[in-house]
Amino acid sequence: MENNRESWGSKLGFIMAAAGSAVGLGNIWKFPFTAGNNGGGAFVLIYLIFVIFIGFSVMLTEFAVGRRKNLAAVGAYKSVDSRWTFAGVLGVLSGFLIMGFYPVVGGWALAYVFKVFGGLLTDPAAIGDVFGGFITNPVQPLIWMVAYLLLNVVIVVRGVSSGIEKAGKVLMPLLFGILILITIKGLTLPNAMAGVEFLFKPDFSKVTGAVVLAALGQAFFSLSLGMGCMITYGSYLNKQENLASNAAIVTAMDTAVALLAGLAMFPAMFSFGMEPAAGPGLVFVVVPSLFAEMGGLGVVFAALFFVALTVAALTSSVSLLEVVVAYLMDERKFTRVKSVITASTIMALMCVLASLSLGGVGPKLFGTGAFDVFDLLTDKIFLAIGGMLLCIFAGWRLDKEDLRKEITNEGDIAFGIFEFWYALVKYVIPVTIAIVAVSGIKSGFDSGVGAIMVIGVAIIAIFAAISKKL
Ligand code: TRP
Repeated sequence: MENNRESWGSKLGFIMAAAGSAVGLGNIWKFPFTAGNNGGGAFVLIYLIFVIFIGFSVMLTEFAVGRRKNLAAVGAYKSVDSRWTFAGVLGVLSGFLIMGFYPVVGGWALAYVFKVFGGLLTDPAAIGDVFGGFITNPVQPLIWMVAYLLLNVVIVVRGVSSGIEKAGKVLMPLLFGILILITIKGLTLPNAMAGVEFLFKPDFSKVTGAVVLAALGQAFFSLSLGMGCMITYGSYLNKQENLASNAAIVTAMDTAVALLAGLAMFPAMFSFGMEPAAGPGLVFVVVPSLFAEMGGLGVVFAALFFVALTVAALTSSVSLLEVVVAYLMDERKFTRVKSVITASTIMALMCVLASLSLGGVGPKLFGTGAFDVFDLLTDKIFLAIGGMLLCIFAGWRLDKEDLRKEITNEGDIAFGIFEFWYALVKYVIPVTIAIVAVSGIKSGFDSGVGAIMVIGVAIIAIFAAISKKL
């Protein structure tokens, strides 16, 4: 078993792949507009607290469980107790749902590489309308979505170490560099400090249950947690690696990129007089507007930005696809190629619904379109509850000494805060997530999405009830 399982080519390969999974649209596209929608500073602070105390611990738990069991998410749960299979299958469902909208946005990023060269920057006043017109178009974004999804298929068909690892290695420095450039440019604009203040000065009067749940969901989404992704990646990791330091490095890199993305967007936005709650168009409007002032060089930088964004998105979405593929291969005995084709076909159909919903076309659930339903179910319910279930599983169902051995590599390396981590995982995190979820769902009813969240909880309950059949 151990010998024929694919594994990472090198230490750097694993960190780059795990960081590649974490750093993606969640950091650069989602974080800024979610922070904007949720009032700025206080949201950011709560998000950071969740990242440090919950995100890091859950990531370490995912790595440890995956490597200990040497199995992807579903298999890892099932090998211990078939009543827990549902927690793994819930992750596979999350994988489908996130991949039901992520490639739509990935397609936008890809399209923007070409739009930038097609003269997008020549009429700065129209940049906002161009975005709105593009994403609500019934056909154009679908073509880009399919192109983007095909890139995922090609990478995942080629398997773990050759495909994902290589893609992960090239991008990080480029992305980081351009974000720094955008930040410097943004900070030199008039009224830039208002943006910095918005992002970092907490105003606690804006905090509601919904804001806290959004911060928790953002932490899970951004760190690729709560759906078995890091369990699966951990299962490909060799026994010599230090799990805790890997988790710390990945968490730090992911958070740095999110904060940098915020810092790159908000000063420019405030300077341009845009609304902080500008929504999903934020990066696609702010970045081109910012570079429009720089002439020909601006075109090159803007194009490079969208290339880097596309690659960052790719290294994330391949990890999502990989979870589903690993499930189909390990549990359903599909070949890799058949798994990839089956999974990506279903995802493509979901993406069609998601993309059309932005133009107001297609089915709605309680007045909410497919794009938002997929996002809401995963970001607000499934990921956090998935993380909670993992912690309950690790804390109450696995052997404490086994976990200690796994994290310390059978006693070879020290992990000084083991007891602290274990207490977080066993008690603090499950209770915290339960409280945040309940208060978030309550305030979800104020904005008309409570019913969808309750459906999400019901789906989990049904999965739990039929766990042994999954
Ligand atoms: N973290 C990625 C991003 O920020 C998205 C992602 C990849 C993800 N794998 C995941 C989110 C697993 C949740 C679970 O774009």
